[in-house]
Amino acid sequence: MTRAGDRPSARRVPLVAANWKMHLLRRDVEDFARVLGAGLGAPRAEVVIFPSHPLLAPAAQALAAAAPGAALGGQDLHPEPKGAFTGDVSGAQLRDAGCTWVLCGHSERRRDHAENDELVGNKVAAAVRSGLAPLLCVGERREERHAGETLAVLERQLAAGLASRPQRFAVAYEPVWAIGTGETATPEIAQEAHAFLREQLVGRYGIETAERTRIVYGGSVTPENAAALREEADIDGFLVGGASLDVGKFLAIIRVCGSA
Ligand code: PGA
Repeated sequence: MTRAGDRPSARRVPLVAANWKMHLLRRDVEDFARVLGAGLGAPRAEVVIFPSHPLLAPAAQALAAAAPGAALGGQDLHPEPKGAFTGDVSGAQLRDAGCTWVLCGHSERRRDHAENDELVGNKVAAAVRSGLAPLLCVGERREERHAGETLAVLERQLAAGLASRPQRFAVAYEPVWAIGTGETATPEIAQEAHAFLREQLVGRYGIETAERTRIVYGGSVTPENAAALREEADIDGFLVGGASLDVGKFLAIIRVCGSA
């Protein structure tokens, strides 16, 4: 029986992130920040909120006032630093809005905006050039899992995403079939993927960097299933979609990590 302090994951500060996707309005942000700030105290987890772009400024203001322990991130960025790219957002603009993180390669961007591995790698590089920490999302689709291709997909997406060899980043394992479906990966399935991703990081960066890199799980995370997932040695926190819209549920998930 291993104790929490013996687990490799205990050496890493957990990362718990809220991916608000295309939800919420300005009026929701202040209340969320107030309740989050009151509930957070001094969290033992790193907490990041990813609002959609129009909400970044009000969220930055509300978090600074009420939940200064929480960081802010963008949901996407353009690989170029500036230019004629209507509707897009640059890393410098995200920094300017108060972001320190950015999501790269979320499966909804890959699916809906035809983002391929190379583009995701370029976005990771652009994030780092702008002083942002990328949270690189990888994960297999259902048919890829059924075809036995899961590890090959993860290997390919990770290698392309990290082609620029960023130093400060985190990885989110988000099996596409678990996102927004209510069908969470079992702790065993998630751990297998996380351990594989960490092995890949060892190969690319060496053991020290691999051991300090956070690999978080995403896909229908709830306060109910988070505890069992968090027990696994290589699950260092969560990227939470649906449940992060409810600040009470999001806090409960943070507590699962903070008390681990
Ligand atoms: P979900 O989304 O928690 O609603 O499944 C997770 C994500 O897409 O990041």
